[in-house]
Amino acid sequence: SLPPVIAIDGPSASGKGTLAAIVAKTLGWHQLDSGMLYRLSALAVLKKNIQSDNEAEIAKVARNLNVCFVGQQVLLDNDDVSDVLRTEEVGALASRIAAYPLLRQALFERQLAFRKAPGLVADGRDMGTVIFPDAKLKIFLIADVNERAQRRYKQLIEKGISANLVSLLDDLKARDERDMHRSHAPLVPAKDAIIIDSSTLSIEESVAKVLAYWSAVN
Ligand code: C5P
Repeated sequence: SLPPVIAIDGPSASGKGTLAAIVAKTLGWHQLDSGMLYRLSALAVLKKNIQSDNEAEIAKVARNLNVCFVGQQVLLDNDDVSDVLRTEEVGALASRIAAYPLLRQALFERQLAFRKAPGLVADGRDMGTVIFPDAKLKIFLIADVNERAQRRYKQLIEKGISANLVSLLDDLKARDERDMHRSHAPLVPAKDAIIIDSSTLSIEESVAKVLAYWSAVN
């Protein structure tokens, strides 16, 4: 039988990436940051100067991504792109092209391949609904949009990157709109997902909740 999956979906900056990383580490499981694949596709599109409305060409680029994960580093065509992947420019384009069904299809198999023993913690927007509908535990992590903007603001300032709280808030709202209202694989909780609101939870408290739910279903 297939290795177990814990799916963690939710909006941008809800803390699902950090949560998924700690849960995976605690259980000794593999991790899939699916947003990274959309960001890698966006970066490849920028590098190859492909028009953002050329769906077929974008899907082709995604299918042929030459990507390599070395520890915490991500290599695209042998260049370390770990930092550039996190930029707003790449994130914004990723969010726009993620609406294309052909791109989502191109990344489908690549995501399934992360499912390896002893288990996988996968985070994104459609892990529990589309990619791993048989996940044993599905978490939908939400947080108040103002709280999410504050968190992202703090992260950027701590990294020495200048940021504007109002534009971060606008950007998050626009991204939520796009992710929730696209026709293909929109951001919605799976019917059997457990909704966790992390607005007033520390990361440790969110981790403890997920691990407790995992023990309960296991
Ligand atoms: O999670 P992250 O912000 O890195 O994802 C970048 C973009 O990729 C998101 O704004 C979202 O539109 C898209 N995405 C998606 N499906 C996923 C993961 C990410 O559509 N499973």
